[in-house]
Amino acid sequence: MSRKEETLDPENWNELRSLGHKMLDDMMDTLENSGTFPFRFPSKEDLENLLIPLSEKGDGEEETYQIFKNHILPSTFVQTRPKFWALVAGTGSAYGMLTEMLTSGTNLGIETTLASYYTHKQVIEWIKDLLEYPEGAGGVLVSGGSEANFTGLAVARNAKARQDMKVKGVQGISEKMTLYGSEEMHHCLERSVEILGLGNEALRWLPTDDECKIKINSLRKTVKEDRDKGVHPFCVIGNAGTVNSGAFDDFKALRKVADKEDMWLHVDGAFGSWVKLSSTHKHLAEGIEFADSLAVDLHKWMYMPYGIGCALVRDKLAHYSTFVYGHEAAYLKSTKELSADTLTNPHSLALPLSRNFTSLKAYMLLRAYGKNKYRRLIQQNLDQINYLVELIVKTPCLEVMAPVASNIVCFRYTRDGLSEGELEELNHKIMGRIRMSDFGIISDTTIKGRYMLRACCVNHRSRREDFDYLVERLKELGKELS
Ligand SMILES: Cc1ncc(COP(=O)(O)O)c(C=O)c1O
Repeated sequence: MSRKEETLDPENWNELRSLGHKMLDDMMDTLENSGTFPFRFPSKEDLENLLIPLSEKGDGEEETYQIFKNHILPSTFVQTRPKFWALVAGTGSAYGMLTEMLTSGTNLGIETTLASYYTHKQVIEWIKDLLEYPEGAGGVLVSGGSEANFTGLAVARNAKARQDMKVKGVQGISEKMTLYGSEEMHHCLERSVEILGLGNEALRWLPTDDECKIKINSLRKTVKEDRDKGVHPFCVIGNAGTVNSGAFDDFKALRKVADKEDMWLHVDGAFGSWVKLSSTHKHLAEGIEFADSLAVDLHKWMYMPYGIGCALVRDKLAHYSTFVYGHEAAYLKSTKELSADTLTNPHSLALPLSRNFTSLKAYMLLRAYGKNKYRRLIQQNLDQINYLVELIVKTPCLEVMAPVASNIVCFRYTRDGLSEGELEELNHKIMGRIRMSDFGIISDTTIKGRYMLRACCVNHRSRREDFDYLVERLKELGKELS
């Protein structure tokens, strides 16, 4: 009796190949026309097509692709637009998309032993070189800024704890361990602190100065007060590019305090670290190389497809000791046996066991475009934000609301005779309308209790006329709504 065995490979390779060519052409066309491709929120018809019980038989590859094209793509193709400056929104690239296809094609789950080990290792070397982080440091590619920060804080906790964290965990802590950062820290740091079992009470949110930088005196004072109370200050967090306003702390001053107090210095440079590639703003990130750990991502200001960040750690052994499997930690007793390759094996430096060959896209994109292209793109975004600031300053009904350090400007619509409360209400209304008509062009935030609109440029597709459009649109909406 003949037995028909199943596979997910196509029965007819040529049919799937031609569907693949169509998918590629459609996505290339969409990306080529990213400025004019129409956007809509999911319609009733979209939802009727999407929210269905899973069929027994399956809809087939072609029909399912049509569902993507007609009911998913129109309301998800947004961050790729030239006029998207909300949040810190990665834009991806056409070549990046193709590298993702190769990653899935190999479907490799390991970045050790094979060529993937070397691409990972090389990407870490390139990132250290671009950011001028010490040659001897190690690092690992992770899913993004949140995981990079988590990784840095996990190593900090284990390295600075006064008992063996690997064995005892937080259950063995006799003195409460505390961390310090500015009130402008990203909330993913708070989440990391919670998941690491330290409790968010342990995280001290310290005040900032007029430039939104952490006040060093307040840091010194709070650490001293905590010590007097018998707690154990173990880590200070610096910000290289705050999410609200793109501010940078003084890393040299933070390093001094950290040294004096025997604390770990972790820097969240998720997107801001990349000002190191500019000629005009490089100085802002001076000193990030002194951090014990540095979190960056590559899917925002390095324009790579989503799902890639990097945690750099100066002390390779501390990093390895934190993530190596408990049962393998026996090696740590005889560190002489640890080869350089062991300490750079990404499977021992982050949470996942299976890895999705994350390094391939970074390797190919960095190698294809080289340092100069990235330098020019970063500089272009900084110049574009400067251009937007000039437009705002020239426009009487708009005003800048926070110091502009790098690639973010916070501003609002203004009108004589309106109180602070009325201005806030008007800007809320403007934001509400923008969300409906120009989704994602800008977002909003609150700094030191004041509500403001916000544009952050990490977009390689933006052109100066796109910023002219934004200002005209704000003038129009402000006039209509006030
Ligand atoms: C300063 C900063 N840190 C951390 C994060 C979190 O990074 P991710 O979204 O890649 O997890 C962000 C996200 O925008 C950020 O701006």
